[in-house]
Amino acid sequence: MKIKQVSSKDVNDIFFLEKSVFNKNAFSKALIKKLIRNNLYFLKLEKNKIRKEIIGFIIVVKDRIDRANIINFLVNPNYHNKGYGSFLLFNTVKKIKESTDIKKVVLNVQVKNSTAIKLYRKFGFKIVQKINQYYQSKEDAYLMKLDIL
Ligand SMILES: CC(C)(COP(=O)(O)OP(=O)(O)OC[C@H]1O[C@@H](n2cnc3c(N)ncnc32)[C@H](O)[C@@H]1OP(=O)(O)O)[C@@H](O)C(=O)NCCC(=O)NCCS
Repeated sequence: MKIKQVSSKDVNDIFFLEKSVFNKNAFSKALIKKLIRNNLYFLKLEKNKIRKEIIGFIIVVKDRIDRANIINFLVNPNYHNKGYGSFLLFNTVKKIKESTDIKKVVLNVQVKNSTAIKLYRKFGFKIVQKINQYYQSKEDAYLMKLDIL
């Protein structure tokens, strides 16, 4: 398994995964292209095979002078519950910590997404706020935060 920065060549694979996991809440292809050009980290987890399959990805933007925001994160459903999400999140947080200007990391997660919430808690994220009807689908979200000391 390798973690690499996403490039414009990956747009279709990323969009396919995004659509298959998030359906009507999926980011558009245009937005994904924009984020490939402009991000703090847009990382993919790739299988070490001849055809390099993308197992998962994570998108981090800097939305304030001292804050990173994880705006998208998923693992291909065929590979869930094998530790890949933890591996990608751990290594991303490690990279974020290397940027000395970043003091906190935030993210939004669906209130009912207990798997993701559990994973974020494992790495020290705490729920700080509930945001009603946050998603296009009108579902509620939690804002979670990790302070970097
Ligand atoms: C959240 C997500 C990225 C986790 O990826 P993953 O590779 O399955 O994560 P891991 O294998 O590292 O498991 C993380 C935890 O979730 C639990 N988990 C994972 N899949 C599970 C499942 N199908 N059922 C129950 N628990 C599960 C594991 O038990 C693990 O807990 P542990 O560390 O205490 O053992 C993945 O479920 C996903 O892509 N979900 C859809 C997209 C999403 O919700 N993204 C987050 C948006 S904020």
